[in-house]
Amino acid sequence: MHIVKIKGGKTLSGEIVVSGAKNSIVGLMPAAVLCDEDVNIYNVPHLSDVDNLIDILEYLNVGVESKEDYMKIIPTNLCNKPIHSEFSKKLRASYYFMGALLGKYGHVEISFPGGCVIGARPIDLHLKGFKALGATITENGDTMIIDADELIGTNIYLDFASVGATINLMLAAVKAKGKTVIENAAKEPEIVNIATFLNSMGANISGAGTNKIKIEGVEYLSSCFHEVIPDRIEAGTFIIMGAALGDHLKVSNLIPEHVYSLTEKLREMGVPLEIGPDYVIVSKPEKYNPVDVQTLVYPGFVTDHQQLIASLMVLANGTSSIEETIYENRFQNLYELSKMGARIKVEGKKAYIYGPTKLTGTTVMATDLRAGAGLVIAGLMATGETEIQNADYILRGYENIVEKLSNIGAELELI
Ligand code: UD1
Repeated sequence: MHIVKIKGGKTLSGEIVVSGAKNSIVGLMPAAVLCDEDVNIYNVPHLSDVDNLIDILEYLNVGVESKEDYMKIIPTNLCNKPIHSEFSKKLRASYYFMGALLGKYGHVEISFPGGCVIGARPIDLHLKGFKALGATITENGDTMIIDADELIGTNIYLDFASVGATINLMLAAVKAKGKTVIENAAKEPEIVNIATFLNSMGANISGAGTNKIKIEGVEYLSSCFHEVIPDRIEAGTFIIMGAALGDHLKVSNLIPEHVYSLTEKLREMGVPLEIGPDYVIVSKPEKYNPVDVQTLVYPGFVTDHQQLIASLMVLANGTSSIEETIYENRFQNLYELSKMGARIKVEGKKAYIYGPTKLTGTTVMATDLRAGAGLVIAGLMATGETEIQNADYILRGYENIVEKLSNIGAELELI
């Protein structure tokens, strides 16, 4: 188990560069197996989730060559073996192999995925969509066997605009016969990034980024070059750190539109921000206004950012609130934050944070990825030393976090 130790109260300045998006690369790597030739991906972040996906690809006899931020994936000798729980449980995104292998071979055997425990996280919408495309699903304990003699394009309406289901159905439909339409599709930028990747191989997908995605099936996908978009959640993490402790901290290599719901909320809090074409410069204000946040699907306020801004809300002059509408159990960070002195009340899907409060360093536990990142923000803000246990969660989604933060003036170590 890794531990992060932080000495709080340091001013953050200089420049911090955002890496490629975790939620994009974890879809792109499974999507690569659909290709009938090699694929080349740039701006790949070094994350434990990426390492876990490499393990799955290599187990399936897919070649992976990486150098710095470049990755070549060679799926030409793929062997479509069952993906057991030792692989699938390591990350949520292992479930993208369902859509990709089903789409390519008409058969996949895979155990249920793992991932952060932030709610029930069922996969019924994925399975319903596969069935609509003509697949049959047999469940055997925690293993699913999904088969289709032929996948046939159809109209699929998602009861909820799920990111995972939208991507998985796009993967399954790329080589299906005829036209698939996904209605009430999720619109997150990572979906657009994955659709662009597939289109550059020769897929025929239109409408990604809107709530109606149309996929005209193709037979062959050829080699391509692709770049991972910047990570909007990581960008948001650094912007919030700057809002708490920044002196003209420049967060660069981001797409401002992707973090708009956050930057607008920070402006409402009174945080001075300068937004450039691919950067945000952020400083700590004299005082913070309390704000109310409601999480929504993109382009609404991002659920992952909710766990991060919670730490900043502690500093506001009055009561802030968070309403979590996407997940049932995404407030575990708040219990840890209260160990540091935050005054918080959680009532069902709503949390109230009473400020202003000064946080004091203590030992806390990362209960999931963004909870861990929220505690890093809190540790940077707190007086004294904060020890974050279970920090492996943080490494799933933040590349070189210690080095990056040390370079802008933070004092922390990973043990
Ligand atoms: C993705 C992101 C995660 C982000 C979330 C919401 C990845 C790897 N993870 O997660 O960081 O917080 O989007 O933006 O990209 N649901 C169902 N049935 C389903 C599928 C989902 O009920 O079949 C529910 C989930 O339980 C959850 C909600 O829909 O309450 C949203 O889930 P979804 O959009 O699918 O999120 P993920 O893809 O898991």
